[in-house]
Amino acid sequence: MKIVVIGGTGLIGSKLVIKLRAQGHDAIAASPNTGVDTLTGEGLAEVLKDASVVVDVSNSPSWEDTAVMKFFETSTRNLLTYGAAAGVRHHVALSVVGTDQLSESGYFRAKIAQEKLIKGSTIPWSIVHATQFFEFLKGLADTSSDGDKVRLPPVFFQPMAADDVASAVGRIAVGPPLNGTVEIGGPEQFRLDDLVRRRLAALKDPREVIADPRALYSGAKISERTLVPGKDARLGETRFDTWLEQSGAQIPSAPPQPSGTGVPAPR
Ligand SMILES: NC(=O)c1ccc[n+]([C@@H]2O[C@H](COP(=O)([O-])OP(=O)(O)OC[C@H]3O[C@@H](n4cnc5c(N)ncnc54)[C@H](OP(=O)(O)O)[C@@H]3O)[C@@H](O)[C@H]2O)c1
Repeated sequence: MKIVVIGGTGLIGSKLVIKLRAQGHDAIAASPNTGVDTLTGEGLAEVLKDASVVVDVSNSPSWEDTAVMKFFETSTRNLLTYGAAAGVRHHVALSVVGTDQLSESGYFRAKIAQEKLIKGSTIPWSIVHATQFFEFLKGLADTSSDGDKVRLPPVFFQPMAADDVASAVGRIAVGPPLNGTVEIGGPEQFRLDDLVRRRLAALKDPREVIADPRALYSGAKISERTLVPGKDARLGETRFDTWLEQSGAQIPSAPPQPSGTGVPAPR
């Protein structure tokens, strides 16, 4: 099956292309780096020729409110228009658990707009809502930093390894369209501030993480469980400590971290 992975050079996309090819699919990585630009439409007609499935795991280079809205609206419109013309039978997109409740955030307003366009399209679709990636923990600290302080709300969250995200998206991409949204998450629940603190410590990053119940998440107020998937979520297998060891992301001389704060997530 020809499967075009939009954003196929990114964190999730590059893993997904490898997994789909290993299963014998003709998976094509499409992105500006490979001559395909969903914002301008450049290269889209050519890459979508004879494609059965489009998987959109792209992300906007800028998260500024206007830029990110323009990216997801224009790109998604282009993808759906060119996809319909090419006879694409399944459009899959990766979004985020809790998106619908995060409309105070410019980034999440853009993801809501992306999802709305997909749901209104003539192409059968599946939307995958994933929790935060382990790989994104440092990025989360960066976007919540004020000098050497990182302020985060101490809410529950259930992050997962990018590799598990790619596996789950791959399974959905080769299956029948759901015309619905499925949630995926990690195997353990943590407090947001706690895990970011552990990640920074493993990186020997000296910033202090402060649990601040009034701190915003991506510009939005969130409640205790906004970032946590529902009971029907499909859970990845990789635990945080295992990921830390396997990714070589832990600096060997990092101070020992408290263990046992990750409790198994409800299934
Ligand atoms: N971060 C999280 O914790 C999290 C959680 C749940 C869901 N998500 C969602 O996961 C998705 C993928 O995230 P990621 O971290 O894997 O992204 P990423 O590593 O930043 O990769 C972004 C990809 O988008 C491509 N791209 C950028 N502009 C493009 C354009 N004009 N046309 C086509 N492709 C373009 C990039 O191509 P180039 O390499 O050519 O620049 C790259 O392949 C996002 O939609 C995000 O909302 C993220």
